[in-house]
Amino acid sequence: MNRPVELGKDDVPGTGIESDTPPGLSAETQRQAEIARAALTALRGEVAKTVVGQDSVVTGLVIALLCRGHVLLEGVPGTAKTLLIKTLSRALDLDFKRVQFTPDLMPGDVTGSLVYDNRTAEFEFREGPVFTNLLLADEINRTPPKTQASLLEAMEERQVSVEGSARPLPDPFVVCATQNPIEYEGTYPLPEAQLDRFLVKLTVPVPTRDEEIAMLQRHAAGFDPRDLSEVQAVAGASELAAGRAAVRSVHLDPKVAAYVVDLCRATRQSPSLQLGVSPRGATALLATSRAWAWLSGRDYVTPDDVKALARPTLRHRVQLRPEAELEGATADGVLEGILAHVPAPR
Ligand SMILES: Nc1ncnc2c1ncn2[C@@H]1O[C@H](COP(=O)(O)OP(=O)(O)OP(=O)(O)O)[C@@H](O)[C@H]1O
Ligand SMILES: [Mg+2]
Repeated sequence: MNRPVELGKDDVPGTGIESDTPPGLSAETQRQAEIARAALTALRGEVAKTVVGQDSVVTGLVIALLCRGHVLLEGVPGTAKTLLIKTLSRALDLDFKRVQFTPDLMPGDVTGSLVYDNRTAEFEFREGPVFTNLLLADEINRTPPKTQASLLEAMEERQVSVEGSARPLPDPFVVCATQNPIEYEGTYPLPEAQLDRFLVKLTVPVPTRDEEIAMLQRHAAGFDPRDLSEVQAVAGASELAAGRAAVRSVHLDPKVAAYVVDLCRATRQSPSLQLGVSPRGATALLATSRAWAWLSGRDYVTPDDVKALARPTLRHRVQLRPEAELEGATADGVLEGILAHVPAPR
């Protein structure tokens, strides 16, 4: 049986990785890519200044930023989802905004609206919080579908249309939407079809006993989660762009491409699922696996990269059959079974 591969601290080598220059990349591009990898690896250390543990969530966020993909963060209350994103945005020299999604939030509160200017006697567009690089959409399932739809549309199109004219959003534009898996009352679950728009769904676990003790010790020593002044900006848009360019040159063996497809096809045939992964999901798994390969210091994707990213990239793109759900099946459990059965290339 295949051992489940986890994203974790120890999997990302430091910066002293020796890698051959991939064909087609100039020495200068290669040097920039190495600097970018070092900076993005250092992000982890900065986040660790405030958040204890949660390494695989941080890695997942960095992968999403490299792929310019949006993230769904799910975890029970009080597991540092908000603190994590706030810290990450400080450690990245990017523009950051946060919107608390409440039941009375209007679409215009997210995307912006036309405002009458008395002096000029004209309507002017006032940009909403989506005009940023990193948007924390906190508790996205607390707002009604109309407002959710305005955000999802901006995510997909990377622009906001007002009165017939399109306004492009900044680049990068990445949304981290948080949701709490246990509160169903007064919430509006995201439509299944819209979930495909999130590149990854990261689950934020409750910390281990040791991590929780370490957290309490920090608090006892005077740590204040509202004061993030110790966190330094260690990477920014240029490192992300250099990283993205390098990820594009990560080699994909046809056998690994076939493996990605076989995994996705297996979800479509699984008796526990009523909806399997779409071809869009397959491209997403390829993208995240490549980004992870590059972050790990390689210029080729391995089946283990694919295994490591399969659950975060696919878990929100499959739908359990009601019978399977009643029997206690979970998307992660079904995916794990598929990873164990679909033969991986050597
Ligand atoms: N892993 C952790 N490391 C450090 N502090 C933590 C950790 N987990 C929780 N905390 C503490 O718990 C507090 C609550 O975190 P935060 O508000 O970010 O949680 P949340 O997951 O966003 O919760 P909610 O779902 O209610 O919005 C943090 O300010 C921090 O003090
Ligand atoms: Mg929160």
